[in-house]
Amino acid sequence: PLSEVRFSAETGSTNDDAGRWLETGAPDAAVVVTDCQIAGRGRLDRRWITRPGAALAFSLIFHPTPAEMEHLALFSPLAGLAVSDGLKAGCGLKAEIKWPNDVLLQRRKVCGILAETSWQAGRLTGVVLGIGVNVAPSAVPPADRLLFPAISVEEAAGHPVERWILLSEILASLFAWRKKLASPEFFQSWESRLAFKGEDVLVQMPDGQLEGKVMGIDPQGGLVLRTPAGKQEVITVGDVHLRPA
Ligand code: BTN
Repeated sequence: PLSEVRFSAETGSTNDDAGRWLETGAPDAAVVVTDCQIAGRGRLDRRWITRPGAALAFSLIFHPTPAEMEHLALFSPLAGLAVSDGLKAGCGLKAEIKWPNDVLLQRRKVCGILAETSWQAGRLTGVVLGIGVNVAPSAVPPADRLLFPAISVEEAAGHPVERWILLSEILASLFAWRKKLASPEFFQSWESRLAFKGEDVLVQMPDGQLEGKVMGIDPQGGLVLRTPAGKQEVITVGDVHLRPA
């Protein structure tokens, strides 16, 4: 369960706020929530816009247990599982997880996740898990500013959605999955919600790109692809796109 909550009407980035709170002694399972971010950050140094009243933007703080320390890379899919559960429980929507952790509805991105670790003198001081969900249509940036098509929860649901109910569903699921981090059930659920399974994708990696068919998730959380030459490859960092036909 949650330990402490800090809410603001506006901030720069909740991940930055959570990082600063960690330095001054934030407890495990604390959360920073805001209505509007003016310097929100995405993966790979991208920007993430959060307009007032339109989205969920929050960051959780964790002090990983020794067992969790072995699976730090699984904190971001943990958030993906929780958001997809929340969308099901709160809105009856069936979401998919685009590896490693974007949440998709109707094959468009509804939620982005930014997991960051914080270190001091070579020791891990905490994990910050930032989650941004497009709730209202106005949360979705114009298509020409996007690398991947986006959607809002309300567009997919076809009716207004109460943000704070969705948030509480996501948090309840997240703390339940935390207890099962790295369990067979964790991997099975992640894999069963994996987007583009069996389809041909193009993965953009920091050092190039790779084409292949999505096969599943490996025990470390990497994406398993089968290349056109029939070789299995495991991707640890990259962006997945459907390959244009
Ligand atoms: C991505 O898809 O690139 C990740 C986006 C993560 C956005 C969330 S919103 C709350 C938290 N604060 C931030 O500055 N970023 C994350």
